[in-house]
Amino acid sequence: MAGWNARKPMIAEEVAPEHRLTPTLSWPHLIALGVGAIVGTGILTLIGVGADKAGPAVIVSFVIAGVICAAAALAYAEMATMIPQSGSAYTYSYVVIGELFAWIIGWSLILEYSLVVSAVAVGWSGYAAPLLQASLGVPMSLMQGPELGGIINLPAIFIIAVVAGLLMVGTRESATVNAALVVVKVLALVVFVAVTLPYFNAANFEPFSPFGFAKHMGPDGVERGVMAAAAIIFFAFYGFDAIATAAEETKNPARDLKIGIVGSMFICIAIYMAVAACAIGAIAYTRFANSPEPLALILREIGQGGAATFLAVSAVVALPTVILAFFYGQSRIFFVMARDRLLPEGLAKVSSRGTPVRITIFTASIVAVLAGFIPLAELAALANAGTLTAFAAVALCMLIMRRRAPDAPRTFRTPAAPIVGGIAILGCLYLFLSLPQSTQLYFVLAHVVGFLFYFGYGARHSLARKA
Ligand code: ALA
Repeated sequence: MAGWNARKPMIAEEVAPEHRLTPTLSWPHLIALGVGAIVGTGILTLIGVGADKAGPAVIVSFVIAGVICAAAALAYAEMATMIPQSGSAYTYSYVVIGELFAWIIGWSLILEYSLVVSAVAVGWSGYAAPLLQASLGVPMSLMQGPELGGIINLPAIFIIAVVAGLLMVGTRESATVNAALVVVKVLALVVFVAVTLPYFNAANFEPFSPFGFAKHMGPDGVERGVMAAAAIIFFAFYGFDAIATAAEETKNPARDLKIGIVGSMFICIAIYMAVAACAIGAIAYTRFANSPEPLALILREIGQGGAATFLAVSAVVALPTVILAFFYGQSRIFFVMARDRLLPEGLAKVSSRGTPVRITIFTASIVAVLAGFIPLAELAALANAGTLTAFAAVALCMLIMRRRAPDAPRTFRTPAAPIVGGIAILGCLYLFLSLPQSTQLYFVLAHVVGFLFYFGYGARHSLARKA
């Protein structure tokens, strides 16, 4: 089959040894990779942006974003075990729907992963900057982007360089370091809940929903409402999809991907509900709205300075796990798209250690520039736009395969597939429409650029078309 609707075969073709990734991972690595990728700037920092948009009802935003993400996670688990090849949503779309659609999803994933790396680096810098200023006297103007009156966000650029180096050393080593840091991060959130719980005051939940439900433009030019917050808070929940991109490097994909994706998703939803309820119960939301380090601020405000420092240090030590996981996913998407010749083949070369060095350096350069100058909320919103597109596509692929190949082996079946698939697709659409209008515009522009690449290079070199 040739043309824009060319499809890849379901079973991975033999790939040349220099393009092959080594299977070294099993499910504990994947759960660590999942929790490592999910818990990050969303709960640590964007909770403040969400509170600004929704008031105490940001807790409802968490529930909405969590439910939609969980629905997508179930569809993901089914597709990941059915098509255990690198490339996640991009590869599923290529196998199930066709090349042009797959390109749109692949480009959305590139956007997602790059911008998550940048956004989390900026979130990391939010917690690191006060510590760096106090200990080394680094001026704030070198640790904040122009939107906060700074010149450049150097800590964000620095942390991206460190993680890129780690990734180039090799997958297995990185996954092990990652697992240790995940423990630190989860412990910090548990301490936050334990310390803030005695300060819980139900009066802080009044008025519960000062900005209403649907997205609307406030008088100050900021889009507000529970859904506007949910569209940003959605950032906090994804990351399990980074696991699916590790399919080819997993020893027993059918079992490991299922446990990794569903397990890490549900662990994170439970932790977030507890943290969000305690944060809002502790102090008035207006005091931490839009702070670059809201959870540390809350702890300081209730007089728990020691816990605030512990949390900030933990965030600084552990947030790089999120950067690592998305960086990892990013380089693999590039890798798979290059292997399919939708991007130049030279990008797909792996080093003698089995890691794609060129793609990692290329990606690092771009995301570092973005992190140096663009505000966190904007990076996160655009990352969400890409992710929502990919999630809707995965749910669509799941539903199509249920009709096209109802009896094909699936080691994981999404329960109540039409309902769960429907929630994922319509939910992602509603969240997308609830993003800031400027984000929707940037997203369309990014895809116009994508089409130039596709028609200029990918469509001419595609292996699936030649097959
Ligand atoms: N879920 C990830 C985070 O919140 C992207 O940082």
